[in-house]
Amino acid sequence: MPNKSAARVVNSPPLNLHVAIIMDGSGRWAEARGLARVEGHRAGRAAACRAVEAALGAGVRVLTLFTFSTENWGRPEGEVAQLMRIFGDFLREDVPYFLLHGVCVTVVGRRDRLPVSLREAIDTVEAASEGGGKMRLRLAIDYSGRDAILRAASRFHQEGEHSYENFGRILAQAQFDAEPVPDIDLLIRTGGEQRLSNCPLWEIAYAELYFSTGMWPDFDSADFVAALQEFSTRQRRFGRITLVTS
Ligand code: IPE
Ligand code: IPE
Ligand code: MG
Repeated sequence: MPNKSAARVVNSPPLNLHVAIIMDGSGRWAEARGLARVEGHRAGRAAACRAVEAALGAGVRVLTLFTFSTENWGRPEGEVAQLMRIFGDFLREDVPYFLLHGVCVTVVGRRDRLPVSLREAIDTVEAASEGGGKMRLRLAIDYSGRDAILRAASRFHQEGEHSYENFGRILAQAQFDAEPVPDIDLLIRTGGEQRLSNCPLWEIAYAELYFSTGMWPDFDSADFVAALQEFSTRQRRFGRITLVTS
């Protein structure tokens, strides 16, 4: 398992990656400190800001943050309400700084079950994002990878050509995304669990997976760089073989 010292290895991760993060472990981080879980989510908001800055600094093209899964509605009402408030605060108070630095923000997932104030914050940020060309930040909120595929599949057979590209276009529409994204190159999950928890399943078909044991609120730019360094050591064969030349 790579650790922070891996960040010191001299290796150049490629630019223009699509990196996705399952930001897990905020509740346990708080509980380990005798704090309410909401404190973990607040600290998680700060970690999300660090991740966006680190991704910008590393030349990432798309950063997808898995923020709230469809299954997360099953949590106690109070925790869900606090999370929705934190997402709104992130959009209203943190995102404007990123917009100034050329980040374009989109939100993927269902919108119809979100509180009105959060929907308004999303609309404001998305409208203000037009033109942000340095990096795309995608927040997956009320998101289910399976639901996205199911919605897209039900439209697919009526709409045009049978190709991955066309499916990707319909999938983007089905999850309210502005435009299709390239496949996820690197999927990071913090918090020690080694599962996918219904993250963007179509987009991770050939992603490199990186699981770290640190809790999300502790995630910092060195951790982000360590994940990229580890990624740059992976040999991506896409089903082919590496030819050995003599
Ligand atoms: C992830 O952290 C945040 C959300 C799912 C919204 P958790 O809240 O799942 O934290 P743990 O896994 O309970 O520690
Ligand atoms: C995954 O974390 C979802 C997000 C980080 C948004 P969970 O904590 O909800 O996932 P499980 O319950 O461990 O699968
Ligand atoms: Mg969790």
